[in-house]
Amino acid sequence: MTTPPSPATPDWRPRLHCTPQRHWINDPNGLVVLDGVYHAFYQYNPGDSVWGDIGWGHATSTDLLHWQERPLALPATDDEMAFSGCIVADERNTSGLAPAGSGATPLLAFYTRFDRRTKVQSQCLAYSLDGGESFQRWAGNPLVDIRSEEFRDPFVFRHEASGRWVMLVVLALEQQVLVYVSDDLLQWKRVSAFGPAGVVAGAIWEVPVLLPLAVDGEPGRQRWVLFVSINGATRWGGSGVQYFVGDFDGERFTADPGEPRDGVRWADHGRDFYAPLPFAGLQAERPVWLGWMNNWEYARELPTSPWRGQLSLPRELSLARTADGLRLTQRVPPDVARAALAPQPLELRSCIASHAARALAEQRPRGRHWRARLRVAREAVLQPIAWAFFTGDGEPPLRVGFDPVLEAYFIDRRRPSPRFTGESEIHHAPRDRSRATVELEVWVDGCTVELFADGGTVAISDVAFPEAGAQGVELQHGSANPLLDVFSLAALRGGPRD
Ligand code: FRU
Repeated sequence: MTTPPSPATPDWRPRLHCTPQRHWINDPNGLVVLDGVYHAFYQYNPGDSVWGDIGWGHATSTDLLHWQERPLALPATDDEMAFSGCIVADERNTSGLAPAGSGATPLLAFYTRFDRRTKVQSQCLAYSLDGGESFQRWAGNPLVDIRSEEFRDPFVFRHEASGRWVMLVVLALEQQVLVYVSDDLLQWKRVSAFGPAGVVAGAIWEVPVLLPLAVDGEPGRQRWVLFVSINGATRWGGSGVQYFVGDFDGERFTADPGEPRDGVRWADHGRDFYAPLPFAGLQAERPVWLGWMNNWEYARELPTSPWRGQLSLPRELSLARTADGLRLTQRVPPDVARAALAPQPLELRSCIASHAARALAEQRPRGRHWRARLRVAREAVLQPIAWAFFTGDGEPPLRVGFDPVLEAYFIDRRRPSPRFTGESEIHHAPRDRSRATVELEVWVDGCTVELFADGGTVAISDVAFPEAGAQGVELQHGSANPLLDVFSLAALRGGPRD
């Protein structure tokens, strides 16, 4: 049964985020760069705007901002659904799946088969010999089957030091990540397990990712970071992403002793960032990932139509040393950010807040697609300071800022009459106390809001659904009037004037 169509909500559609034309999307799957083209595969229901009949959808982009939907990559069949996984480009044809002498690079899609009859989840392979346009399921499936109903989300990468392939899979209810290794991408041997650790009670572990990340400011230093998306038992409810910093020897991940010093580390402190996956095939020092901007607690209630769900902006990853030890750093890659912004932003330096607010009001900014920045000395902030978006219809606006009493950044999406659980909430993230400034960058695009603060060591991502008439932007600074080092507002490209 499909859900009845609701009226279309074009105002809430992001311009520079991946959304399907119609219907339901969840996790990114198999993000890969081939010949300069970014491919995003994702969990997709081609027949409805709620989860079901899940297979892999596909979209491509040349700038990580504008996405073009492609034909379905891996549809569900009568026997199975295709759950989350990843793609590797088998450049040396170690799998032998490309015919000898063809010179083709097989694309291997590792996915979890959900057997509709038995409910068993096993790890399977599909492959493409035409650059991701079409996939066929491998005749030798499954690759790994332990007859479990909660065993999923293979993440595969090449570990150069050992010259082998590594696969991570979660045992969701046991809160464990199992590690397998392979020489040919087809035969897999289990070598270790990690967990339970971090958030355990009541949590379902999903979508593991393991990456070496550079430590900013410490040339040549890298640590391995294990990310696990968890459902339930997050501080804010529903879905979230925790991570562990440590080492990986090709077979076993070991978290650094004493890590995390202050409890669990969250990749993002908002409600709406889940199941992120890095792009394979980017040789960059800093990997780039995309997440699903939604939360299982209310995912099926988002009021958008005819699509439901969106992927995040691309975020470049590294580690930084903070007052709490090593932290994940996320930022929109600078070249992507430049390409996203329309010309003629409002840019002020060394300007007191009341002047900045007036200069902004004189410009009468209107819209739903912005990148805003603010930097101010921490000691100058005596009252909450915030960007307010979607002002002007009598409803409380969306506020994104810093609260000096709580020493925390926030996204405030509270509404008097919430349409789904969690809509009427304010989400906080503690600032890095080793810094002397409050520094934030916020991206608002249709229904998406992404805040990066303190050089990206703080992230909060939320979806928000303001009414059509609410289009204004203001600066709120209370009666305090701090001197702002940086104050800037730029429209995102794609509007009527560019
Ligand atoms: C994560 C997840 C995965 C699963 C997929 C199903 O959001 O629950 O564990 O493979 O979604 O769509």
